[in-house]
Amino acid sequence: MKAFIKTYGCQMNKYTSLVYSKELSQLGYEMTENEERADVILLNTCSVRKHAEDRACGRLNTLLSLKRKNPNLKIGIVGCMAERLGNRLFERFPQLDFIISPNDIEKIRNVIGKEKPCEVQENFPCQKGIKAFVPVSFGCSNYCSYCIVPYTTGCLKSRKRDEIIRECEFLLKNGIKEITLLGQDITSYGRDLNNGNLADILSSVSSLGVLRIRFITSHPKGIDDEIIGLIASKKNICPHLHLPLQSGSNKILSLMNRGYTIEYYITLVEKIRKSLPEPSITTDIIVGFPGETKEDYEKTEKALEFIKFDAGFLFKYSPREGTAAYKLKEELSEEEKTERLNHLIKMQNEISYKKNKCLIGRECNVLVEGENLKDKKSLLGRTDTDKMVVFNGERSLIGKIIKVKIEDASTYTLKGRCKTN
Ligand code: 5AD
Ligand code: SF4
Repeated sequence: MKAFIKTYGCQMNKYTSLVYSKELSQLGYEMTENEERADVILLNTCSVRKHAEDRACGRLNTLLSLKRKNPNLKIGIVGCMAERLGNRLFERFPQLDFIISPNDIEKIRNVIGKEKPCEVQENFPCQKGIKAFVPVSFGCSNYCSYCIVPYTTGCLKSRKRDEIIRECEFLLKNGIKEITLLGQDITSYGRDLNNGNLADILSSVSSLGVLRIRFITSHPKGIDDEIIGLIASKKNICPHLHLPLQSGSNKILSLMNRGYTIEYYITLVEKIRKSLPEPSITTDIIVGFPGETKEDYEKTEKALEFIKFDAGFLFKYSPREGTAAYKLKEELSEEEKTERLNHLIKMQNEISYKKNKCLIGRECNVLVEGENLKDKKSLLGRTDTDKMVVFNGERSLIGKIIKVKIEDASTYTLKGRCKTN
């Protein structure tokens, strides 16, 4: 019996897909990359923007047609769309077999109609290779007005510290070199437990001896001196912060319920840049939020120009039913939103390009991740600041941190020469 999983959305979904494949393999299924050979198909979906939902629905229609050839094929929707739309999905796709919400993963056992053979004590998903992800919390209780996450994944649910540490130890034993700790707002970790915070988790994981630790996503109001101090003092905590700004206008930030001002944000960035030798700061921005005037938008442009992020993920506002912002009137046309987005992307690309160019001639510490799939002769890795580097070198370097001298740079990648070669 074979199972196929298609994943949309964030790193958290990539992780839950691994949990599903672990469950399915314990139920006797082997994973396949070929949907036509599958007996069970899962679409692990994302609801953060309409576009992601539209893509999943399109794919679902094609996959449902496979049932003509294989009437025993079971197809299910899991992830955020399952929670957001629930039974409405059955109305729209009558051939769908099951839906499972993000907080009910183990329901897959009932759906497949098999008893799990025996409960193994540690049931962490197997992650292979150099890098792995470990969720520290699920859900979010910030209720940014545009965001569907608190309604799909629910409110903040932090995992217990011991469980997080055991999963990290398990990964280290399996040869993982880099762990990225995950949380929708990772800086809120522990608030629901009244015990522990992100700094505790970071220092505990740091002392396990993993080569590199990353953590995403940070809410600007949750980055304190203790966290900055830890990044500065622990060699294996990467000096990279993904710090969504969302907008450069205080009026829009307030409508978004973000809980900070642009002045606060800039002060924070300055503090980070003063405290760490060469940090990278990346961001998320939403353009075209309801009420965003030309002046508001220009404030975001100004913020981008002033802060100079290493990279930015820029999005058009997408109204999500059930969120507070859904009730706000949109005044911009799709074309106007696209125009603002494209202009901002162009600006950010130039900034990223210039920042990367500045690295030419410099030596960077690169964790070698593997062969460059586009050109098997070269290797691929990342700097501690999360920039991708392509360089020549022996396969035996995979999994090691090496010095690479940067010789060329583009908007998204660096090219270099390996010093140990
Ligand atoms: N529309 C557009 N972008 C959104 N994001 C979250 N919700 C929406 C929405 N309704 C963006 C935010 C967030 C990132 C993961 O997705 O910028 O940081
Ligand atoms: Fe959504 Fe805001 Fe929570 Fe991020 S911090 S997941 S944008 S509610």
